[in-house]
Amino acid sequence: MTVFGAFGSVGRRVVEEARRRGHEVTAVSRRAGSGSEVGDARVVADVVRLGAGRDVVIGATRPADGEEGQLVEATRALLAGVAETGARLLLVGGAGSLVTPAGHTVLEAPDFPVELGPVARAGAEQLAVCRADREADWTYLSPPVVLEPGERTGVFRVGRDEQVGEVISIEDLAVALLDEVETPRHRRGRFTVGY
Ligand SMILES: NC(=O)c1ccc[n+]([C@@H]2O[C@H](COP(=O)([O-])OP(=O)(O)OC[C@H]3O[C@@H](n4cnc5c(N)ncnc54)[C@H](OP(=O)(O)O)[C@@H]3O)[C@@H](O)[C@H]2O)c1
Repeated sequence: MTVFGAFGSVGRRVVEEARRRGHEVTAVSRRAGSGSEVGDARVVADVVRLGAGRDVVIGATRPADGEEGQLVEATRALLAGVAETGARLLLVGGAGSLVTPAGHTVLEAPDFPVELGPVARAGAEQLAVCRADREADWTYLSPPVVLEPGERTGVFRVGRDEQVGEVISIEDLAVALLDEVETPRHRRGRFTVGY
């Protein structure tokens, strides 16, 4: 598999979980470094070059603050790239568009932190772009609101568009993502996890 954003806080743990399960991983960064391939998730040619011959491409990129629109650009390029190579695309997205028990989205909650608005809206748009796509074999994983380094327990709940918990460790999010890689249950759809 090929992982874009492989050196970010989510991507690094996804790579670790994949290697632990014996998957061959191409780890992509925009910067040259040991053990990485250089590529930009917003460039279709990079997605095709680095994803060629792979069953799965994972997108775990996060743009810098103020550049949130890049998330949607990257999503469009990743979708176009996998449509060309035939790989499945699994995206680590955002929690903002999940439906809460109160019946509104996380993003619409009155206490949703203002500073997270741009990235949360970009994540929601990212999902909309996937849902409008007619070519790629995509899956979108929404983390819960709180996603932090922690324990790898392997025990969590799985849902679709409704929030199933407010917290998960990044290690367990990586377990859920690799479970989906190995046993696809949410093709052309979104799923979420939480404790
Ligand atoms: N609760 C939530 O909803 C929640 C919480 C946290 C994260 N997330 C989501 O999880 C994903 C990953 O977040 P993170 O916390 O792991 O971010 P992070 O630690 O900032 O890492 C993101 C990585 O993306 C890479 N990147 C950015 N743009 C890229 C591009 N165009 N092409 C290739 N690589 C690119 C950067 O690597 P280089 O600069 O080395 O290229 C960086 O290492 C994001 O979609 C984020 O929104 C959601």
